[in-house]
Amino acid sequence: MVAVPTETVYGLAARADSAEAVLKIFRAKGRPANDPLIVHIADIGELDGVASEVPPGAKALAEAFWPGPLTLVLPKRPRIPPETTSGLETVAVRMPSHPVARAVIRAAGLPLAAPSANPFGRTSPTRSAHLDPGMMAQVDGYVEGGDCSVGVESTIVGFFGGRPVLLRPGGLALEEIEAVVGPVELPRKESAKIVAPGQMPSHYAPLTPMRLATDEFEDGPDVARLVFGRSVSGPCAGWRDLSPAGDPAEAARNLYRMMRELDALGARLIVADVLPDAGLGRAVNDRLRRASAR
Ligand code: TXA
Ligand code: MG
Repeated sequence: MVAVPTETVYGLAARADSAEAVLKIFRAKGRPANDPLIVHIADIGELDGVASEVPPGAKALAEAFWPGPLTLVLPKRPRIPPETTSGLETVAVRMPSHPVARAVIRAAGLPLAAPSANPFGRTSPTRSAHLDPGMMAQVDGYVEGGDCSVGVESTIVGFFGGRPVLLRPGGLALEEIEAVVGPVELPRKESAKIVAPGQMPSHYAPLTPMRLATDEFEDGPDVARLVFGRSVSGPCAGWRDLSPAGDPAEAARNLYRMMRELDALGARLIVADVLPDAGLGRAVNDRLRRASAR
């Protein structure tokens, strides 16, 4: 069980075909057993060994965007044990583009299950220095891979009756996916819980309470600000601009690091700007909403 860099976030990886290995991941993260893991492959030829069926839409997406920040949920092969998928008959599969991630999968010679390498509910690591020491004490080691270039987790797409459904916004924009497979269904809040287990409302959270700038909050000099494409004047505990150029991809890349930096200030509150709901702005907003859920 090792922490490995991917282009999205660092993952905590172990062999996906071993119940014993994946249970170690759940234990190290303090992750509930009903939150399934993503299986990572290094080559598209390995997909058939993990998924029993690949609908045409999924095949088109894999061909267009793998390797990259896209995860596909597909019917699973018996080789993937129920511990990996939390008892579901489907498996989430992704081929990362990070050369170190792919080298580790190739060296292992089999698919690797890897959730984000953070204690459950906390902010995902986008550089090795952000790996939690308490969690790492239970892990065999990590592989250095520098800063993650995407910075938010993969976009997850499932297929129900062959039709694509967005299960989690992430590092690949919905617009790019729709350009290949046409309209993608956005699940309603209640059904999302059933199709994408583990998508808890309170997630990715710093220890300092967080609010959205669109929420009601009490401002003051002890409030830290996470802004998008602007500066902050007036007294505050500190601030970071996710992207001075107003670029949502740059905001995604900076998001978790800046959340950590603001968390370290000991502020009473972190208040975050909401991005326009387009491109990677969707993924950034999703993480900000979950981080500020009470
Ligand atoms: O970018 C990423 O996806 C990173 C890197 C390490 O690859 N991994 C990641 O894993 O974000 P994790 O464990 O933090 O999130 C995995 C999520 C689960 O919480 C669940 O919502 C969804 O993937 N998932 C996994 N298997 C599923 C399945 N069979 N059906 C529906 N959703 C599934
Ligand atoms: Mg995670």
